[in-house]
Amino acid sequence: MTGRHSVIAPSGSVSPVASAWHGGGRRVFLQDVGTRDGLQAESAFVPTADKVALVDALSEAGLAKIEVTSFVSPQAIPALRDAEQVLREIRRVPGVVYSALVPNVRGAERAIDSRADELNLVMSASESHNLSNLRMTQAQSFTSLMQVGAAAHGTGVALNVSLSCAFGCPMEGEVDPQAVLQWCERFIGELGARGVTLCDTTGMAYPTQVLALVRAFRARWPATELTLHFHNTRGMGLANVLAAIEAGADRFDASFGGLGGCPYAPGASGNVCTEDIAHALDLMGYTTGVDLVRLVAAAGRLPALIGHDIPSQIVKAGRRLDLHPRPADFEAIRQRALARAG
Ligand code: COA
Ligand code: ZN
Repeated sequence: MTGRHSVIAPSGSVSPVASAWHGGGRRVFLQDVGTRDGLQAESAFVPTADKVALVDALSEAGLAKIEVTSFVSPQAIPALRDAEQVLREIRRVPGVVYSALVPNVRGAERAIDSRADELNLVMSASESHNLSNLRMTQAQSFTSLMQVGAAAHGTGVALNVSLSCAFGCPMEGEVDPQAVLQWCERFIGELGARGVTLCDTTGMAYPTQVLALVRAFRARWPATELTLHFHNTRGMGLANVLAAIEAGADRFDASFGGLGGCPYAPGASGNVCTEDIAHALDLMGYTTGVDLVRLVAAAGRLPALIGHDIPSQIVKAGRRLDLHPRPADFEAIRQRALARAG
């Protein structure tokens, strides 16, 4: 859906535009990954009841999809060792998709038993990153994805594949966009995935690159559910979101509070921040379905739970029209100014 919309041109005639600058009521689907991508990177274990309360708050805030947790090895990611309990205890709001990241068949079986709506499978567009993160070659990962597909067959659970490092790898550098599209071809054609997520795992994507890759994807698969997953590591998150919209994307992963990234790794940083993105897109006339007040309240609970500040700009600064009182001596300032003018 490229979302061509008519606007009133200055001359008064109606002309079609497809510019990201004009939301024109277009729907953008925001998918919160904070309780997975964010909390997995935290050293503090957030108690299960608090995780459940956070997911419930995200459901109430109108997120389209929530990546609740991941069913990975508890030794690898101890922060999410309570995945089953969290999925069991959340309050499911009709229409919200509850997704879980799974790295292998074992994880898929656990997620299906816990009634996840969607399995988010992962592999990397870079061999070095795939080996580092998943301890497998890309070829082995794809075989594992197919095994997960077989395990999920007939269960009704949807499959999404997240392709890490689709815009660059911190160890290998540039990643060939043709190779990215070839992996997408296999996810869609061979695995039968409902959706694909192109992940900018370490914040290497830049807007013109995003524009080209999303355009190429959309030209080839106009109907496949495409998600963009950006990290704000180098400050290009919102610009990348707008570039992707310009190229026809309408789904974004984001983290409330801007959670994510290891607090101890220099330069690491979180996903694009859900409330920052929702705030900007709302102002530009997009329909996000997000209740910003509720979302900001949910993000505001995070510092006490994780033990440090969060990067969210909207939590820090408030919304654009959250006004501040004038200085207490404002009247005196004015009188002095008027006296000087006189
Ligand atoms: N759920 C629970 N336990 C799992 C599991 C799963 N999905 N997959 C593997 N394990 C356990 C095994 O049972 C084994 O436990 P043991 O040592 O007590 O016997 C241990 O994890 C190692 O299993 P192995 O099959 O040898 O896998 P590995 O060591 O090669 O690890 C991964 C592979 C990918 C499963 C593991 O490294 C992992 O979960 N990593 C997390 C990746 C991640 O979430 N990255 C960030 C998001 S992209
Ligand atoms: Zn990520």
